[in-house]
Amino acid sequence: MAALQSTKYIWHNGKLIPWDQAQVHVMSHVLHYGSSIFEGIRCYKTEQGAAIFRLVDHMQRLLDSAKIYRMDLNYTVDQLVAAVVETVEANEVAPCYIRPIAFRGYGELGVHPGNNPIELYIGNFPWGKYVHGDAGADVCISSWSRMAPNTLPALAKAGANYMNSQLIRMEAGINGYSEGIALDVNGYVSEGSGENLFVVHRGQLLTSSLGSSVLAGITRASILTLARDMGISVVEQTIPRELLYIADEVFFSGTAAEVTPIRSIDRIPIQDGQPGPITRQLAAEYLGIATGKRPDRFNWLTPVKVPAAEAVTA
Ligand SMILES: Cc1ncc(COP(=O)(O)O)c(C=O)c1O
Repeated sequence: MAALQSTKYIWHNGKLIPWDQAQVHVMSHVLHYGSSIFEGIRCYKTEQGAAIFRLVDHMQRLLDSAKIYRMDLNYTVDQLVAAVVETVEANEVAPCYIRPIAFRGYGELGVHPGNNPIELYIGNFPWGKYVHGDAGADVCISSWSRMAPNTLPALAKAGANYMNSQLIRMEAGINGYSEGIALDVNGYVSEGSGENLFVVHRGQLLTSSLGSSVLAGITRASILTLARDMGISVVEQTIPRELLYIADEVFFSGTAAEVTPIRSIDRIPIQDGQPGPITRQLAAEYLGIATGKRPDRFNWLTPVKVPAAEAVTA
């Protein structure tokens, strides 16, 4: 993984501050108890300039995560959207990855969040491809399960959830895989450490339902919309592990991972190991819209006034 590339500014509680000044105290609540929520968003170079993909939906999900954890952000969706645009335009870096994060800050130390301030920061930086292997990723089923539904809520994109993700991701790496797929506590397919999962089986596109401890991915929602629009039959359901091994196609979806074809699972090849036709069609449509090569017919792009460079590779 490449080192983080700094930019000029970070947005903090309404103001742009220099990158180096965006610091927290070691006694902040978030460091001890994991009390953060965040988003990961991409800004693409398009034919018409730079544009942020599904910014409104990401900001709505940040507000949803805040609501679940009783964090009052005191910003509307429109204000959050404007803050992200301001940050990206001030930093003049595109394409980029955008990371808004809200957390419980410095004040009191104890599990109860008490009167600790809520801090909101937005940073962005150049960033490229995430899951390795253009030709398809070799992945495993993790020995770690996703969080049980009545423990950490999967629909909240909270920092604490990523301790579980780290276990999944590290185990996969140590065993020579590029990513791990976690099952839910009932043994059904959940998701990757940082991606949702799709399966093509007998002409149908399947993905785990929100009851299987998955994040309600924005890319997942985009793929569902595109597939329905293309006339592909789509089902959100509980998926047994063994269906993955006999699937016609399997792919990850995510802001970072985009559409990543999966070539093998637990060393069992998915058909002939090549990205299948539905995966390729959906990836082309998704990236086509994100990069302005195909019409933005669902209104997913927010243009930003930044001169766009060629994409970097992380
Ligand atoms: C655990 C997890 N699942 C799924 C996703 C995909 O979500 P999205 O498409 O909104 O990026 C992510 C991405 O951050 C994730 O961390």
